[in-house]
Amino acid sequence: PVLVVDFGAQYAQLIARRVREAHVYSEIVPNSITAAEMMEKDPQAIILSGGPASVYVDGAPMLDPDIFNLGIPMLGICYGFQVMSYQLGGVVDKAALGEYGKTEALIDNADSILAGSPETQITWMSHGVAVQKAPEGFEVLAHTEGAPVAAMANEERGLFGVQWHPEVKHTPLGQDIIENFLHKEAKLPNSWDSHSIIDEQVAKIRKQVGDAQVICGLSGGVDSAVAAALVHKAIGDQLTCVFVDHGLLRKGEVEQVKHDFVEATGIKLVTVDASDDFLTALEGVSEPERKRKIIGEKFIRTFEKATRQIVADAANAGSEIKFLVQGTLYPDVVESGGGDGAANIKSHHNVGGLPDDLKFDLIEPLRTLFKDEVRAVGTELGLPEEMVWRQPFPGPGLAIRIVGEITRERLAALREADAIAREELSKAGLDRDIWQCPVVLLADVHSVGVQGDERTYGSPIVLRPVSSEDAMTADWSRVPYDVLAQISTRITNECREINRVVLDVTSKPPATIEWE
Ligand code: XMP
Repeated sequence: PVLVVDFGAQYAQLIARRVREAHVYSEIVPNSITAAEMMEKDPQAIILSGGPASVYVDGAPMLDPDIFNLGIPMLGICYGFQVMSYQLGGVVDKAALGEYGKTEALIDNADSILAGSPETQITWMSHGVAVQKAPEGFEVLAHTEGAPVAAMANEERGLFGVQWHPEVKHTPLGQDIIENFLHKEAKLPNSWDSHSIIDEQVAKIRKQVGDAQVICGLSGGVDSAVAAALVHKAIGDQLTCVFVDHGLLRKGEVEQVKHDFVEATGIKLVTVDASDDFLTALEGVSEPERKRKIIGEKFIRTFEKATRQIVADAANAGSEIKFLVQGTLYPDVVESGGGDGAANIKSHHNVGGLPDDLKFDLIEPLRTLFKDEVRAVGTELGLPEEMVWRQPFPGPGLAIRIVGEITRERLAALREADAIAREELSKAGLDRDIWQCPVVLLADVHSVGVQGDERTYGSPIVLRPVSSEDAMTADWSRVPYDVLAQISTRITNECREINRVVLDVTSKPPATIEWE
């Protein structure tokens, strides 16, 4: 793999993604890694990420110096570039001019990692410290007003550095630098794509499972669907999927799982229609955390009951369910390795909490993958497009998009409004620009309207389109007015209960993406 050394501030994940977009497998490692630990991972190249520290401050994270002598091609980015310069004897000091955001880089030598670059290029920078003098043996490839050395190379040792961030989209030619480094300098071939991911996972799953039986919970979302499809490809009918319909999915989603997904994969599916049960349990509840608790608890008990039945049936047929599939993604793995868990803003539910006598070994076929890779694999496996490209949708479903108590009528109204918004956003070609667009029913708010010459007293619908990279922060999407107008007209025409449509123009923070 290409090892991305994490110096903090979330740049490492982005770099790892860009490396994979260049068709080379990457993994993230902590900056405390030693040269010996690194060699155990058999790296083909190393990239040092950016980070928030300054090299000359006490306690600033450094690299085990032996790593520079491993003979493995290395690229330092931003702070990683400064670490490389500093540890190899260059001069790193406060910049005469800090550069933040869009910055013009002047290219002194369009070669090496800058091969193919025009004489100047737009880059995205964030530094108040600069490499004033490159270490011995390095050639300066570029400079900026504030950074005398903004890119450098030591071809002989295979060491390279760049002050700006090639991994961000605001550096238009950034991916060229990453690809030059990987393909030209480190001489790594294209080897990572959905085919190779599938082949590798299928082999791994077969080996892990043998002839045991496997169970998998489907949620309607892309992760569990792709995980199930991968496992099914590996072991066929040894897999049984369980789909708990809690009655809180959006229009068409239940059919998508029960028909389209099953048709596309041939997977053995047990569906539990538990919507009555869930709605009864939710009667009279309007507090968001209580909704979540009730749904999470009910979900796990329903799943448990279905699982017990499947386990019993398997036992009667002389076999045993040994494994449970989970759709854990790479960012979850990286983040949970990161220690000191973030504050619990909202309790998210997933399939955990099974009783001890139902403990299974886990199969996590997406554990090394980013979301875009999961989607590519899903497409390759022939899953329904709407499922593969489904926007993030909370486990508790529409329950947390009705502000107030949940009733069948309110659910029906929200389902219609949501379907209209989704349809119009798709029609306008905005699906891939918008991260997600919750549609929220303010069920206890009433306002006066006039619909068909009659006075109405209905509830408003909130549109909450947001753009985001990872849902940790988000901005409200600037959806064109005519698209908003069309959504508004259709919702108020087609959903009798709704007489007003409003737009949420708050970023996250301070507001969360969902309303509850
Ligand atoms: P917030 O509202 O916290 O949402 O800004 C961040 C992302 O998480 C999704 N979300 C949930 N997902 N169970 C889930 O599986 C939940 O209870 C839940 N609550 C929020 C939300 O849709 C957004 O993508």
